[in-house]
Amino acid sequence: MLAPVILAASRSDKMRRFVSAAPGTKQVVERFIPGETVDQVVPVVVDAVDKGLEVTLDVVGEDITTPEQAAAARDAYLELIDRLKDLGLGTKAEMSVKLSMFGQALEDGHELALANVRPVVEAAAAIGTTVTLDAEDHTTLDSMFAIHDELRKDFPQTGCVIQAYLFRTEDDAHRLAANGSRVRIVKGAYKEPAEVAYQDKSEIDKAYVRITRILMEGSGYPMIGSHDPRLIAISQELARRAGRKLDEYEFQMLYGIRTEEHVRLAAEGHRMRVYTAYGTDWYGYFMRRLAEKPANLIFFARSTLTK
Ligand code: FDA
Repeated sequence: MLAPVILAASRSDKMRRFVSAAPGTKQVVERFIPGETVDQVVPVVVDAVDKGLEVTLDVVGEDITTPEQAAAARDAYLELIDRLKDLGLGTKAEMSVKLSMFGQALEDGHELALANVRPVVEAAAAIGTTVTLDAEDHTTLDSMFAIHDELRKDFPQTGCVIQAYLFRTEDDAHRLAANGSRVRIVKGAYKEPAEVAYQDKSEIDKAYVRITRILMEGSGYPMIGSHDPRLIAISQELARRAGRKLDEYEFQMLYGIRTEEHVRLAAEGHRMRVYTAYGTDWYGYFMRRLAEKPANLIFFARSTLTK
């Protein structure tokens, strides 16, 4: 019941100002977003790799409104990649990007987003790593997949995300489960209408399993993005039945969520990648984390009220 309200608030400027100014917000935000700067996130990356984990780094931000902001987003990723260069981690530290942060919703946004993301993908390839295109709301996906296709012509390792809650996704999975393509499957984090998406949790879970089977049986590289213990166990079984070795797929979870499970899966020999977001424009990312688990909202309200 609460999730749609929180997701609607995640797009409201008034709520953004209110939440950002609330006492106690910072403390709750830090659970999910370990820093605001490259300097703060680099030690987090090093620590994760020391523990046998891998990371995908997200400079938080989305729905920007000017081409200058889109260029600034590109430059923030280029700065990050420049810092990662010295660490020599290769694909242990990859990047995740939201095309709305690269200008996708602006005039001629498709071309603008492609022009801004290409140098990031090039720079990542130059240090031996990759970029994955996050999936945002359903209206943006045709453009995201077209940009993914375009980038893969020169950088076939470029990944993308598909969302189990969308009716379209099984078809997308069939198309993408080929030629070594790297595909992250997630449940989906946006507020989507009943015309395009399952609304019922159990329907979403069933779709997740069907789509994971398609990915596991294909010739791409599946990335299982979930904290759901049942779906993780089912994915392991689907991988086994498809004859995949442990390095022929990976698990991914978000920083700050089920942390002990990150380490457990890595210790079992799985590739385990932690999605680590950092930066100052954390509002949209943070609100989606609140929507995923209403208990987070209670924690947030408590820490705000006790300040
Ligand atoms: P589910 O929501 O059922 O959670 C299972 C369990 O995990 C919960 O019972 C709880 O214990 C724990 N948990 C989950 N979320 C939590 C939270 N916020 N706080 C505390 N505990 C929590 N979505 C999208 O639309 N586009 C994208 O590009 C991505 N990218 C992405 C990358 C990665 C690596 C992950 C893991 C997830 C995404 N997502 C995403 C988000 C995704 O769509 C989904 O909203 C969340 O992963 C939550 O769904 P689960 O599969 O974890 O199951």
